[in-house]
Amino acid sequence: MTRRVVVIGSANVDLVVRVPRRPDGGETLIGGDLQQLPGGKGANQAAAAARCGAEVAFVGRVGADANGDYLRGRLAGAGVDVSLLRSVERPTGTAIILLTPDGENSIVVSPGANGAFGPAEGEDVGAALRGAHVAVLSLEIPRETAFGVAGAAVDAGVRVVLNAAPATRLGGETLSLCDPLIVNEHEAREALGLGADHAAAADYPRLAELLRTAGARSVVITLGGEGAVVADAGGITRVPAYRVPVTDTTGAGDAFVGAVAAELAAGAALSEAVRFATAVSAVSVQRVGAQASYAERSEVEAFIAAAER
Ligand code: RIB
Ligand code: NA
Repeated sequence: MTRRVVVIGSANVDLVVRVPRRPDGGETLIGGDLQQLPGGKGANQAAAAARCGAEVAFVGRVGADANGDYLRGRLAGAGVDVSLLRSVERPTGTAIILLTPDGENSIVVSPGANGAFGPAEGEDVGAALRGAHVAVLSLEIPRETAFGVAGAAVDAGVRVVLNAAPATRLGGETLSLCDPLIVNEHEAREALGLGADHAAAADYPRLAELLRTAGARSVVITLGGEGAVVADAGGITRVPAYRVPVTDTTGAGDAFVGAVAAELAAGAALSEAVRFATAVSAVSVQRVGAQASYAERSEVEAFIAAAER
C-alpha cells in the first residue's frame, strides 16, 4: 500500500570538490573538478522516500534562480510532488562540500531561501498535511517553523518523524511530538544537553532511553558503520549495519530518514523500517552525491538479498 509522506525542509545545491585532505586556516588546496548535485536535508529525504515507493510531497523554499529551477526539476524527476515548493527573493540554499578520500565530508551550508520559510506560512503546510500519514521534519529551516509544523501535524493526526539535524537541544514539548526522533550520536547528546564527557555519552541504548524519558514517543540513534539503536514502547532493538566500501557518506543519513518515513507510511513497525533504511543508506554511501546516489527500491531489495546469501 502506498501512503502519503510529506517532507517539510531544506533544499540546497551541493557544490562538491574532492580534496586530498581538509585545508588548514590560510591554506590554499587544489581539489578535483567541481560537481553540482541536488541536496539539502529535506529534499534528500523526500527523494529517498519517493525512491522507496512512497507518494511524497515536498514543502520548502528555493530562490527564483537557475539553481532553484534545477532543484525543482531534480525532485520532480524523482517523482516528488513539488507543487508546494515555492520560489522566494533569496538565493537558493547552497552547501559547499569538501570530500576527503575516506568518504568523509566537511560541509558549510548557506541557507538562503531556506531561511525565508517562516512559521506564519501555515497554508502550504495545512494543505500538505491533509491526507498525509507521515510528516518528516529536519532543522535546516528555521527551528520555530519546523517545531510549529510538527505540532500542527500531530494535531492533524499525522505521525511526525523529526530528524534533529543540525544538532540542537530539544525540550520535552518538542520531544513529545516525535515518533520517532532520528538523531546520530552527536545529535542525541545535543538534544539532551549532555557533554561528550557525560557518563552515558557513548552508551547509545541509555541515550535512547533518556530521550524517551524526556518525552520522545520513540527514538532511533544512527551509528554509521555500527548500525542503529531503536527505542520504543516495545524496548530497545539494535539493528546492525551492512559492511560496504564507502565512497561518499553525504546524505546517507537523509536516505535513512526518508526510507524510515516511507516504510512507516506503508505500515511497517519501526524496527522493520529501520532495518530496510539501513540497507538504503548502505547503498547510498557507495556512490558520490546525496540524492544522486539513492537507489530504486528494487535495487535495495537485490542488495539485501545478496547480503543475506
Ligand atoms: O545531509 C546532507 C546534506 O546536508 C547535503 O545534501 C547538504 O545540502 C547539506 O544540507
Ligand atoms: Na552517497
